[in-house]
Amino acid sequence: MSLTLSEILLLFARKGGRAYDGEGVTQLEHALQAAALAEAEGALPSVVAAALLHDLGHMVNDQGETPTLRGVDDLHQYAALPFLRGLYGEDVLEPIKLHVDAKRYLCATRPGYYEALSADSKRSLTLQGGPFSADEATAFIERPFAETAVRVRLWDDQAKRSGAATPPLAHFIAALEAAQRHSE
Ligand SMILES: [Fe+2]
Ligand SMILES: [Fe+2]
Repeated sequence: MSLTLSEILLLFARKGGRAYDGEGVTQLEHALQAAALAEAEGALPSVVAAALLHDLGHMVNDQGETPTLRGVDDLHQYAALPFLRGLYGEDVLEPIKLHVDAKRYLCATRPGYYEALSADSKRSLTLQGGPFSADEATAFIERPFAETAVRVRLWDDQAKRSGAATPPLAHFIAALEAAQRHSE
């Protein structure tokens, strides 16, 4: 089930043109914008890879373009993990797995965060369990890689700018390779 790096690139080529939540960017544009924001902050290759791949689950899932409009939580934060486990360790997989919970955390802890979310992110939040309680937020942020997941989440939220210029996918192959477990 695990994908090779070439197969990941092929998946972006085949399905990256899909609309992302109907918000004016495609899946590929969203991924590239998130990765470019990570790179601009000097993030480690594993974190750039997590930013690039955080929504791969939307592309392996085939739930249609905006499943939240049908009241469906596609659980995409988990869907990609089996496909990536052969290539990547927890430093890439955990931030991907936790990027939805990071939104629930930020809603609970950061004033104004919820209000600034996109319409689809607000809609999916309800399906995903809503904001964390104070206790849940404390428990979440103590989990390994939760801080990284929060960083990925903040780039994720910004990576919805129609027409924003980014490097092409090929630019990020170096980070995708450097982040692989066997390259450590
Ligand atoms: Fe996501
Ligand atoms: Fe995303």
